[in-house]
Amino acid sequence: MSKNVAVIGYGVVGSGTVELFMKNRESINKKIGRECDIKYILDIRDFPDSPFADRIVHDFETILNDDEIEVVAEVVGGTTFAYDYTKRLLQKGKSVVTSNKALVAAKGAELLKIAQDNNCSYLFEASVGGGIPIIRPIYKCLAGNQILQISGILNGTTNFILTKMIKDQMSFEDALKLAQQLGYAEADPTADVEGDDACRKICILGSLAYGKHIYPEMIHKSGITRVTLDDVEYAANAGYVIKLIGSVKKLDDGTLSAIVCPRLVPKSNLLASVDDVFNAISVTGDGVGDVLFYGAGAGKLPTASAVVGDIIDCLKHIHKALNISWEDSSLDEKFVVRYKDTNCSMYVRIKADDAQALKPAISEMFGKLMYIERENRPDNELAFITPNMVESDIDANLAILSHSAEIASKIRIF
Ligand code: HSE
Repeated sequence: MSKNVAVIGYGVVGSGTVELFMKNRESINKKIGRECDIKYILDIRDFPDSPFADRIVHDFETILNDDEIEVVAEVVGGTTFAYDYTKRLLQKGKSVVTSNKALVAAKGAELLKIAQDNNCSYLFEASVGGGIPIIRPIYKCLAGNQILQISGILNGTTNFILTKMIKDQMSFEDALKLAQQLGYAEADPTADVEGDDACRKICILGSLAYGKHIYPEMIHKSGITRVTLDDVEYAANAGYVIKLIGSVKKLDDGTLSAIVCPRLVPKSNLLASVDDVFNAISVTGDGVGDVLFYGAGAGKLPTASAVVGDIIDCLKHIHKALNISWEDSSLDEKFVVRYKDTNCSMYVRIKADDAQALKPAISEMFGKLMYIERENRPDNELAFITPNMVESDIDANLAILSHSAEIASKIRIF
């Protein structure tokens, strides 16, 4: 029996990881081909009532300096301690698995290189899509394809909030509180609702698919805090639902277009029916066509499922780097194009004293567009969908319109 696994962080994902590993230890050990066990759980807190209280340690050096430890699950999150711990563990040849998307998105290229150089692995299946297998499918099963694009609902908390707003007309604030109680949200939920979490995830998927590190700073992101129940109603009347979508796509000249923002998704699109905390990621390859990955995108045991899968993989391939990697890049490289230079069509809601009177001017600006109605629409409100055009041209028109109306909402169409 080897007591060769350690877990750093005994929060939602950490406790789920320990619970799942211990529950299925017998079958897990059969898959690994030898007897393995969790030796340490590192946390600053004590857990006297936990059945694993005797495995709690407070000093990272205990794990780092124990030669029996082969694999460490870093589920503490953040980019400070987690970065330092991960680097030092990999430098010592211990494999690290993680759900920490912030760290992978910020330091992935560097940490993968350290793992390669030290014959160990840095795996992060749990960092995107919670329990959904998506990292391995992209770098293994779909390796024979050129990836044309990846689009998905990548944040469980915001999808949960939007679903509650759409289906139960619940307010944004109440839905967020509920998501926090259910353990879906980040420690600071700003990262969820402002789109940072989804942005980190699309960076990871894009880096993996296109072989070059995409940093979060390279991508335009906007969250869901400005989406209102009025927008939800207009969208529904036009045949859409509002979802927070992250996408990355290869353009004909080899550059990438990448963005995270709320979008009006046509109800006929499969992503439109992905509700609650579920995530779904659509990948288009030049050979395979479209494939869709769907499942629980957040939560204790779904995320633990991916962490434990990575632990098993590492324990099966000890002293061997599992070959995931991408090139590093510098922040000023221009391989991700400016989102304002790409085409889209936009849902717009405006407010003006006599909104109807602005229709001729709006039609003249945009050409053919679609006006949307909603029950009891106030006289001072108008909503429409622009034709597909370069985003900076849409903005130029809206800047002119803003002299006679307030631009209350602007949401891209998927
Ligand atoms: N806060 C994240 C989410 C957790 O809601 O999707 C999983 O990454």
